[in-house]
Amino acid sequence: MVCLGNICRSPLAEGILKSKVDPSRILVDSAGTAGYHVGSSPDDRSIAIARKFQIDISQQRCRRFVIEDFDRFDHIFVMDQSNYQDVLELAQQESHIRKVRLILEETNLDYEEVPDPYYGGESGFDHVYQLLDNACNVLAERLK
Ligand code: 4NP
Repeated sequence: MVCLGNICRSPLAEGILKSKVDPSRILVDSAGTAGYHVGSSPDDRSIAIARKFQIDISQQRCRRFVIEDFDRFDHIFVMDQSNYQDVLELAQQESHIRKVRLILEETNLDYEEVPDPYYGGESGFDHVYQLLDNACNVLAERLK
C-alpha cells in the first residue's frame, strides 16, 4: 500500500487489508513515496479512525518506498495518480510496472483516487476509511 507520506492513507490501507486476510499467507505492508516522516507513527487521525473500527495501526512506522519493493511484493496498490507516477519512475522493468495499480481502480466506486486527507479535518479520514474498507473487501476476496 503506497501513498505520499505513509502516515495517513497507506497505514490505514495496510491495517484494513491485514484485518481481512490470513497473515500467515499474505504479507501486507505500506510505504510512502516521500521521506518527510520516515520513522514516525501514523497520523493521530488515522490511528483514531482505525481504532473506531477495532484496528490498531499505532505500532506501524513510516518508511519510504524502495526499488526492492518491486521484487518483495506481488501487488503494489497506490492511492492516487501522483503516487502512481512516482512509483513508476522507480520501475526498472515491465514486470515491475504491471504490479502497480490504483487501489480503487477495480472497485465499483465513483472515485478513482483516495483523496489526501492530511490538510483537511476529521471527516476526510472517515471518508478515506470507507473508501479503503470497500476496496479492501474486494481485494481480500480476490487474494483468496
Ligand atoms: P498521506 O498524507 O500521503 O496519506 O500519508 C500525507 C501526509 C503528509 C504529507 C502529505 C500527505 N506531508 O506533506 O507531510
